[in-house]
Amino acid sequence: MTTPSRRADTAEPLHDLLAERWSPRSYVADHTVTEAETTALLEAARWAPSAQNRQPRRFVAGRRGTEVHARIAACVLERNRVWALRASLLVLGIVERVGHDGAPQRFAEYDLGQSVAHLSVQAQHLGLHVRQMGGFDAEAAAAAFGVEAPYAPLVVVAVGRATAVEDLEPELVERDTAPRQRLPLHELVRQRA
Ligand SMILES: Cc1cc2nc3c(=O)[nH]c(=O)nc-3n(C[C@H](O)[C@H](O)[C@H](O)COP(=O)(O)O)c2cc1C
Repeated sequence: MTTPSRRADTAEPLHDLLAERWSPRSYVADHTVTEAETTALLEAARWAPSAQNRQPRRFVAGRRGTEVHARIAACVLERNRVWALRASLLVLGIVERVGHDGAPQRFAEYDLGQSVAHLSVQAQHLGLHVRQMGGFDAEAAAAAFGVEAPYAPLVVVAVGRATAVEDLEPELVERDTAPRQRLPLHELVRQRA
């Protein structure tokens, strides 16, 4: 099986964990993640930094075949559900927008995003892939998992093993093989000295 590599075209060499990471939609439908792998992914999220170490993030994680996976998948918008159902693990990322002292947590989304970034790098290390999704019904997810203010679902994270290039679903071939693009560095970086 040829696992697709879509290595980033970088101005300087990057660590393989960063350069090889990409977000597939085509997942091996019978691949499973182990309990240990799931724990490692959640530990990576747990140990990410956060403003004042407030850790304004919570997670619901379900492996394929479990009711939790099915309930997260049911909240995902149709255009994402077609591929997300095959993910070995679905993780709902929940943000805590207001702290216990009643003050808004200005960096809450940032801190959740950073923890998912760490999860993604750990996934890459484990030979897994991640695709994040904003395309889901956050209200339905809140109802499905009893998430109440100040907590709110913000993202769904699909984790799995990318399908071999030759096994790509026809409807995903174009999207999962299109050139990966980024703003040029000189546009991204306003100033450097
Ligand atoms: C917060 C967030 C929300 C996203 N939402 C979706 C989504 O709803 N559906 C989807 O197919 N991809 C989604 N993506 C994936 C991005 O489109 C993808 O990461 C981006 O195109 C860059 O591709 P790469 O990760 O392969 O470099 C999302 C990514 C992030 C970080």
